[in-house]
Amino acid sequence: MVKFTVVSGNASTDLAKRIARRLKSPYIKTEKKVFPDGESKITINQIPKKSVVVVVQSTYPPVDSNLLELLSIVSKIQKFSSKVYAVIPYMGYARQDREFLGGEIVTIGVVGKLLKSAGVKKVLTVDIHSKLALKELKISSENISAMNVLVKHFEKLKMKDPLVVSPDMGGQERAEKFANLLKTDFIALKKHRDRKTGKVNILSDKVDVKNRDLILVDDMISTGGSIVKATQFLKKQKCKRVFVACTHALLVNDAAKKIKKAGVSQIVSTNTIPGESGKVDVSRVIADALK
Ligand code: R5P
Repeated sequence: MVKFTVVSGNASTDLAKRIARRLKSPYIKTEKKVFPDGESKITINQIPKKSVVVVVQSTYPPVDSNLLELLSIVSKIQKFSSKVYAVIPYMGYARQDREFLGGEIVTIGVVGKLLKSAGVKKVLTVDIHSKLALKELKISSENISAMNVLVKHFEKLKMKDPLVVSPDMGGQERAEKFANLLKTDFIALKKHRDRKTGKVNILSDKVDVKNRDLILVDDMISTGGSIVKATQFLKKQKCKRVFVACTHALLVNDAAKKIKKAGVSQIVSTNTIPGESGKVDVSRVIADALK
């Protein structure tokens, strides 16, 4: 049996503890001190015993600081273990997976290079934004799906004739999987995002959602723009309640407030990012993938 040691970065302490418990492995916490000039100092107070060391750190905001913390921990740990895995439940920069406008840098590729040079042997992540992002990492990697555990949560809610809705065509496959697991049907809306301003619009025509409870399924919510526009559109089509299921609830600034104001009854997300909506625990799916 493989022996693991779980080390947490400060962005993912609770989730790392849960993963360690599920793996029945030792858990090591790190300390982070931020200096007045913004630099941070990371300290590992315990040396891991001979094992596969799993460093758990999501790279949500402050993205660069959390990423650098992860790289720092890995570069220290690889002195004591020949196998260091990075569990990055929420993978920041995954949306920068291609050159949308000329001159843009595919930063997820840079992240991959940094992880590799720090000493990461394998990356495990949850519902990465795109297959392309995973490919651009150019490092041994595995993408774990949180759809099963999210669906289990929704099975417990009493919903009226639920319909799964993807706010964009890119999320069609995800919505289909969610709908199949929930044993219902799905639709995908046509969304347009202005690549310069980031503004979102729904281009779909009439959709048949009358009197149905809807579950908007997405990989992540950042500013809430996509969910707000989709909800406003769906409410105009006389649906019943709108729920949101997503893996990563970044909910930057007042996104949660805007989503509520648009008429969403509830946001349900996983604990890849700690927060009020993060009711669905992904520690089991991550531990199972590691075993
Ligand atoms: C886009 O393709 C993603 O799947 C999400 O829909 C998007 O990133 C969410 O961002 P925001 O909440 O800012 O609209």
